[in-house]
Amino acid sequence: MARKPMMAGNWKMNNAIGEAVVLTQEISNNWRKDWEDKVDVVICPPFVDLKPVKTVLEFDKTKIFVGAQNVYWEEAGAFTGEVSVPMIRECGCDYCIVGHSERRGLFGETNEDVNKKVRALLGGRLAPIVCVGESLAVRDEGTTNEYVCAQVKAAFAGVDADDAAKCVVAYEPVWAIGTGRTATPEQAEEVCAAIRAQLAVLFGEETAQAMRILYGGSMNPGNVDVLVAEPDIDGGLIGGASLKRDSFIQLVKAVMQ
Ligand code: PGA
Repeated sequence: MARKPMMAGNWKMNNAIGEAVVLTQEISNNWRKDWEDKVDVVICPPFVDLKPVKTVLEFDKTKIFVGAQNVYWEEAGAFTGEVSVPMIRECGCDYCIVGHSERRGLFGETNEDVNKKVRALLGGRLAPIVCVGESLAVRDEGTTNEYVCAQVKAAFAGVDADDAAKCVVAYEPVWAIGTGRTATPEQAEEVCAAIRAQLAVLFGEETAQAMRILYGGSMNPGNVDVLVAEPDIDGGLIGGASLKRDSFIQLVKAVMQ
């Protein structure tokens, strides 16, 4: 089945409003109408940039999506420092990254938290980009596929096939994020194929074939082609290389071909 590729930029904690607007404007200026059918481009800036970024894209009428990098599962209330699904929707988000390894590792996010966020997003008609991935210790133990599939199973607990079809999964080996060390295409494909097989067990073959699985971890214009040539890799979740106009545009173009 042909899946529409996705190229998502995860800006992490970079680009204050002024820089965010400039970079979005530069990406938007490069956007062409024929991208629309060939790729879904998503910009995931920090919370404070969501509305300004969306405003630039709306003004330009460019079909680039905006995503948040995190969300809390309650709608409103005494949750100091948190941001809810209705809040990010109001900023114009269509997507939200969930369970990034930095959130899991630095902020103690558990599989259960990830699941609550996934369900809250789906309930609010936003599409989660669910991140999974193993540490180097897990890889060295030889249990990568089991570990990653358990993360997938936990993230999608209580989600039905119709809702799952709206989700994106991002396989991001922790040892490849921001390190310049990319998984080989074979390593990445093996895990992405295992993820798809797990999704087929959970939701049936048709849904699993329709769902997009991205690779993330030091993806750049130099290695994107061989990675997205793999049958189960449908695009990228990009950190460092999404912060520069030229590299991000090159990545978008690479995935369209
Ligand atoms: P990187 O980050 O491209 O800088 O390795 C990817 C990510 O963390 O999503």
